[in-house]
Amino acid sequence: MVCKEKGGPMTKSQAKENHENRENHGADETVDVRWHAHAVSRDERERAAGHRGCVLWFTGLSGCGKSTLANLVDHRLHGRGVRSFVLDGDNVRLGLNAAPALLRERHGDEFAKRFGLGFAAQDREENIRRIGAVAELFAQAGIVTLTAFISPYRRDRDAVRAMLAPGDFIEIHVRAPLEVCESRDPKGLYKKARAGEIKGFTGIDDPYEEPLAAELVVDSAATPAEQLADQVIAWLEQAGKIPRR
Ligand code: ADX
Repeated sequence: MVCKEKGGPMTKSQAKENHENRENHGADETVDVRWHAHAVSRDERERAAGHRGCVLWFTGLSGCGKSTLANLVDHRLHGRGVRSFVLDGDNVRLGLNAAPALLRERHGDEFAKRFGLGFAAQDREENIRRIGAVAELFAQAGIVTLTAFISPYRRDRDAVRAMLAPGDFIEIHVRAPLEVCESRDPKGLYKKARAGEIKGFTGIDDPYEEPLAAELVVDSAATPAEQLADQVIAWLEQAGKIPRR
C-alpha cells in the first residue's frame, strides 16, 4: 500500500499500485484512518440534555406500522423536551441510501451501480449497515434515535447491535401478521408484489426473520398505535434512558 503520510513524488511501482487499487475500488488499500476524540464528550451532552442517547430500532414487515409508531414516540419525546429524531426507511432510501435509478442521472451508470441500493439481500445488508453507523453517531450525540426499517435479516440487526455500545440498541419488534399488513397495503406494494410486478418483496417472496430476543415486542394488529407509544415510553423510563414524569 502507499502510505499517505509520506510526502514526495510517487515511485513507478507506487503509481502502479495506486492504479490497481483504483481498478479494484481500493479493496487492498490499508486503511489508515483513526478515530478522533470529540471535544465535547457524550456524557457532557447527555447531562446537558437530561437524558441518555440510544437507538430504538423498530423492525417489522412493510405496513406493520413502524414509521407511524416511531413518529408517535418521537412526538411524545419532543413534547417532553427529549432530543430525538426518526430515521425512516423510505426517506433514507431517497437520500443517503438512494436507489441506483436516483443516482444515475447526476453520477452516471458505474457510480449508480456501485453505490445505489435496491432490495437484494446484500443491498439490504448495506442499507442497515449504513443506517446503523448513522444511528450510532446520533446516539453518541446524546439523541434518542428512532429507526424504522424492515431490516428483515437477523444477522444485519445483530451486527448493528454489536457495533453500538452495550445497552444502546433497543430492538422493538412491531408485530402484525402478514395478512394484516397486506390488507392495509398503504402504498399498494403488496398488490404489485402479488401480481409479480415487484420481485423479492418482504413477506411475499423474500424472508422476514423475526427477532428472537427483542427488548420489546408490540402487537400493532391488536393495539392502537397510541397505546404502543405508551409502552415504548414506559420502557424508556423504566430503563432510565429518559426521566420519569
Ligand atoms: S430494508 O429491508 O432494507 O430494511 P427499508 O425499510 O429500507 O427495507 O425499505 C422498505 C420500504 O421500501 C417498504 O416499506 C416499501 O415501501 C419499499 N419497498 C420497495 N421494494 C421493496 C421490497 N422488495 N421489499 C420490501 N420493501 C420494498
